[in-house]
Amino acid sequence: MSKKLEDCVTTIPDFPKPGIMFRDITTIISDPEGFKMAVDQLCDMVKGMDIDIVVGSESRGFIFGAPVAYALGKGFVMARKKGKLPRETISETYDLEYGSATLEMHKDSIRPGMKVFLVDDLVATGGTTAAIIKMVEKLGGKVVKIGFVMELAGFDAKNKALKGYDVESLISYP
Ligand code: PRP
Ligand code: ADE
Repeated sequence: MSKKLEDCVTTIPDFPKPGIMFRDITTIISDPEGFKMAVDQLCDMVKGMDIDIVVGSESRGFIFGAPVAYALGKGFVMARKKGKLPRETISETYDLEYGSATLEMHKDSIRPGMKVFLVDDLVATGGTTAAIIKMVEKLGGKVVKIGFVMELAGFDAKNKALKGYDVESLISYP
């Protein structure tokens, strides 16, 4: 039987805070078969679609977003944590499952009308992704697809924070 992506994920209870079930994707990335499977399947999500650019967030979103962009022959835009980007930025502050953070993007990274494929390792509340969507849209871009390796379905981000967007996940946890 061939390997499934689920076989490459481990769960750590109470990390980084009590009550959080941390889904660890380092074990997908370190597994050559698992990593290839994840990147290939993320690329398949936009087969036949017209996209201009891939956007991913620091830091786990970079790990999947960059190879997806490479495989699709597109550029990759980094949404970075506060204070890391050297030129003029746009920023959004947001809440996530275990805290809050601020992400920034270079103002010239998205040109008006660009069709964006947003990639991340995981969606919980959808707060991170919603913040990136806000920045992309303020810059005049359009998020045409959002791809996650994993969704934590209990947060129902697809019908809440990300309602109205085309969202797909490779695997789902409660
Ligand atoms: C994690 C993960 C997602 C986000 C999901 O990033 O990589 O980007 O949380 O949570 P949400 O749907 O509730 O917003 P984190 O901010 O922990 O940063 P990291 O990738 O640097 O670990
Ligand atoms: N990011 C937000 N919530 C998470 C979780 N439960 N496991 C791994 N990464 C996360």
